[in-house]
Formats: sequence, structure tokens, C-alpha cells
Amino acid sequence: MILIVDDDSVVRSSLCFLLKHAGYEPEAVSGPKEALAVVRRAAPQLILMDMNFTLTTSGEEGIQLLKQVKALAPGVPVILITAWGSISLAVQGMRAGAFDFVAKPWNNLALLSSIRTALELSRQGREEAFPLNRSEANSKFHFDKIIGKSAALMDILGTVSRIAPTNASVLITGESGTGKELIAEAIHANSPRAREPFVKVNLGGLSQSLFESEMFGHRKGAFTDAYTDRAGRFEMAGKGTLFLDEIGDLALSCQVKLLRALQDHTYEVLGDSRPRRADARIVSATNCDLRRMVAGRAFREDLFYRINLITIHLPPLRQRREDIPLLARYFAARQSEANGLPRPAFTPAALAYLEGLPYPGNIRELKNLIERTLLVSGKSLLDAPDLAAQSEQAAGKADASSFSGLTLDELEKQSILQAIGTYQGNLSHVASALGISRAALYRRLEKYNINL
Ligand SMILES: Nc1ncnc2c1ncn2[C@@H]1O[C@H](COP(=O)(O)OP(=O)(O)OP(=O)(O)O)[C@@H](O)[C@H]1O
Ligand SMILES: [Mg+2]
Repeated sequence: MILIVDDDSVVRSSLCFLLKHAGYEPEAVSGPKEALAVVRRAAPQLILMDMNFTLTTSGEEGIQLLKQVKALAPGVPVILITAWGSISLAVQGMRAGAFDFVAKPWNNLALLSSIRTALELSRQGREEAFPLNRSEANSKFHFDKIIGKSAALMDILGTVSRIAPTNASVLITGESGTGKELIAEAIHANSPRAREPFVKVNLGGLSQSLFESEMFGHRKGAFTDAYTDRAGRFEMAGKGTLFLDEIGDLALSCQVKLLRALQDHTYEVLGDSRPRRADARIVSATNCDLRRMVAGRAFREDLFYRINLITIHLPPLRQRREDIPLLARYFAARQSEANGLPRPAFTPAALAYLEGLPYPGNIRELKNLIERTLLVSGKSLLDAPDLAAQSEQAAGKADASSFSGLTLDELEKQSILQAIGTYQGNLSHVASALGISRAALYRRLEKYNINL
């Protein structure tokens, strides 16, 4: 049974109608006292609660009721219904443990979707959550590209496998290079939306003036430079997943526009006022501390709750060191496979060396280190000094956290040019210094357009 609490009889009957039609069993009451009586009798599956009772306009009564319900039946999800413009009340309610909020006049689809998600997650909450083991992770889910077996990672994969099938918005946090994007892709791949598009947008690289056109699209002639129609990211994502990367970098003026779209599940294409459905599931990522930003008013609290029904935090690599050898072997194998070379091995000293590094750049840093070492050393058995040479080189450039900014191709070209300089164009010497055959060297000279 779903309990509806609202002092307006018109709202009660239209909500009852909507819920019955969607196959739920609604029961409606007009005020806090009646609501508490119902909750005491038998906990409902979910409560839809209006926040603006007539007694006080401040919403005090609503917050009070929410707290009482949370005390009596902590597991029951509560969705708040607030008037537009009383978002601060909704935010207070979220802090007091509400599951979600919708603004009046509500959008039926958005409301039903929130209800469905709440019920699904609360059902999962009641079932015992068995930790996932690595072989299950491979066989039951699409986690084969996610390497590691540390307890921290298995916890994360367990969470991903439980929340992937829902529509819940997910915020992925963690330092740079911890695998946030990989996890976002895994959420999509393990969801019923897997066959729909996965669309990524880097909000950090998006200027304020381009935000709307990029996200919502525009019609030809909507503004001076709009020469043709353009599809926005929401449209491209369709019923798939929209991955909002670097969401902590979004300017406040854009945050409010994004909030509108997420709140009502609708948006408008620039130059066309017909509202469109925003059906995509929202997964966001950031390496900022959004809570701190909310406290400092740099990030809207209402948007924070909207994108953050579920939070997944990826711990830095230095806190899951047991994954380092697995990751190192994986990256080495992939790189050599791509070059048609046999799978390299590591000496025990090499693995010990790798396990001891600080990795401010996390998994990306480890991956770069392995790839660079293979490329430069050309060996198929990597020892500690081979790795140390490359990691010290990186450290010597600036501070340890800086990445040269070069792609592997650029690095490769640079190494070749350096060797040509050193051996004054003697290609046999160049090839043997680079650890490749003369034929391989010729192919690369051609590839990089190096003329001698
Ligand atoms: N568990 C893992 N197994 C295999 N590869 C991984 C794993 N985690 C991360 N990677 C790889 O490490 C690199 C960095 O990961 P990713 O881009 O997902 O990090 P990120 O957290 O999004 O970083 P940033 O904040 O800098 O955008 C990628 O090449 C990714 O494929
Ligand atoms: Mg990323």
C-alpha cells in the first residue's frame, strides 16, 4: 500500500487515480495525525507526502511528520511533494531522510519513475546483500574489463550490480584516475538500457554559453551561429544513459538549467518551445567534494540531491594495493597484444616495486607507467629498475602527480627521434637501442613521417 498525505482533496483523488492506474494500491489521508495512525497500524510500502499543510505555511508540520515517520518506520521511503519555489523545504526534507521530492504541479511520469525506483531500492534494502565474489562478477555481470579483487572493489561491484537495473541517479566520486568512467559504463552495460546509447558529456570543458545548445540542442536560426538543427545530448542519449562527467565544474547558471530538466524529465530545444521528454538515466562523476561545495554555495543543494540518489565512492589505488599486480599484468598483456608481442612477465622485485608506489594519479598512472616501460625497455621480463627508470623520469619532470601530457604515440615518436639523434642516424643502432627490429623501426618512421 502507498500512503498519500495531502490536505487538498483534489490532489488526493488525482494521485489515487494515477497510482491505481499504474497498478499500485493507494490510500489517502488528509493530515499528519491520520498519517501517523496509518503508519502505526501497518507500515506502507511508500509514502507520498505533501509538505505544505495549511496550519503553518513554513512547512514545519511537514518536516515534523517526516521525522516522526522516519522514527516509526525508518525503512519506508518518503517522497515529498512541495510547491514550486519552496525548494529549500524539499532540501530540508532530504536532509531529514526523504527519498526524493517532486514539485507541484508534478509531472506524472517523473513521479511514477521516482516511485518505482524507491520501491525497487527499498526491496533490495530488505533483502540480504551478499557480497559479490570475483567469479560471479565475471559470469553474471559485465565486469570483465574491471580488474581487481580487493574487498573495496568487490563492494563497489556489488553495489553496481544491485543499482544498475534501477533508474536511480548515481554519483560516482573519487580521485582522478580511479576508474569513475569505467564504473559509469558498467552501470549502463548491466542495466536494461544496455542496448540504448551511452552518451558522455564533459561538463568541465563546456562553456556557459554553449551549455544549453550542447545539452538540449538547437533549431536552425535559434541564435546567430545556429546554421543547422543540432541534436543535444539529452536527445542523443534517448532512453539510454547520460554520463555527466566533471559535474563539480558546472557553473551555477548552468546548474539551474540542468536541475529543471532533471526535475521534470523535460527540456526544450533552443528555438523550439515544444517540451521534450528527458528519459535518460543520469550518472554523474566528479573528483570534487560536492558536499563541501554545497556548504560553500558553489553547488546547488537541490541539484546535489537530484543527481545523487546513490553515491559510489572509488577509493584511491594506494588503499587497494592488492589489486596492483593484477592491474599491472592486465595492462602489460593488453599493450603487448595490441602490438602483436608475447605477454610480458614481471619479476617479484618489479611487482614489489609497483606495490610500493604512491600513485597520486591512481590507476591511470599505473597504466601509463606499465605502457611506457614496455615501450622504452622493449623487454618481455620487466624488472624493478626498468620500472623505476620510467617512474623516476616522470617524477623528475615536475612533481610526482604530473603526467607528461603526451600520448603514447607522441612518446614513441619522441623516443625514436632522440635515438636517431644519439646514434646519428645509424638505423641498426637506433633499432637495437629501442629494442625493436629494423623492419619495425621502418614501419614507425613511415607512420610518424620521419624522413632521414
Ligand atoms: N579496475 C580497473 N581495471 C582496469 N582498468 C581500470 C580500472 N580502473 C581504471 N582503469 C583504467 O584506468 C584509466 C583511468 O580510468 P577512468 O578514466 O575511468 O578514471 P576517472 O576516475 O574517470 O579519472 P578522471 O577523474 O581523471 O576522469 C582508464 O584507462 C581505465 O580504463
Ligand atoms: Mg573520468
